[in-house]
Amino acid sequence: MKLLITAGPTREHLDPVRFLSNRSSGKMGFAVAQAAVERGHTVTLVAGPVTLPTPEQVFRVDVVSALDMLAAVRRLLPYQHALVMCAAVADWRPKSQSDTKLKKTEVPIEVALEPNPDILKTMLPLKEDRIFVGFAAETGDPLAEAQRKLTSKGLDLIVANDVTRPDAGFEVDTNLVTFLTPSEPPRALPLQSKLDIGRAIVDWLEQRERAAPNIT
Ligand code: CTP
Repeated sequence: MKLLITAGPTREHLDPVRFLSNRSSGKMGFAVAQAAVERGHTVTLVAGPVTLPTPEQVFRVDVVSALDMLAAVRRLLPYQHALVMCAAVADWRPKSQSDTKLKKTEVPIEVALEPNPDILKTMLPLKEDRIFVGFAAETGDPLAEAQRKLTSKGLDLIVANDVTRPDAGFEVDTNLVTFLTPSEPPRALPLQSKLDIGRAIVDWLEQRERAAPNIT
């Protein structure tokens, strides 16, 4: 299969040295990419600013902001069988961005923000028979929130995790996730490495592709 995977945070710059971002390390998305090439799939990885090495045989496209990531996904999606959105896309960006470093006297005490587009929702009209997978990193009720996002974003699979646990979520090498799909009961996976979770996601994609092959 040809897989488009996004990973890492996005950065929303206020000026060349200051930005809004989040704690995503990119490890989960890079692990899915690694697992997919291990199984012979063709992987394009759209990565926000992270410090991880590119897995061998992965074609990597680096981006900074949510708008950059959207542009890359829009450009690359037509050639893919599936989109796996692991990236922690920043939901807002500063309304204005300065090309030069703002002096401290110029930085507003209140920074005006505007919403970023939702990449999955923006791509939904181009989905056709492609498989869309999302992630839901939650601090509240992971399953309820993931269920809501599964439906509202038109996903085939959402991978839910509770990021308040020390052994799951941001920065660490392990994760504890539940798979939710529109048609099956939720499937909780045991605590395991992000690479093994990546392999489970690739298993799921392969089974899904066998059940309903697409021709992209
Ligand atoms: N996502 C996206 N575009 C955005 C924000 C999120 O495509 N602008 C994707 C993420 O990559 C992930 C899924 O949507 O696969 C869920 O992301 P999440 O941050 O959990 O949800 P939000 O849509 O941001 O909703 P909320 O802020 O209410 O949790």
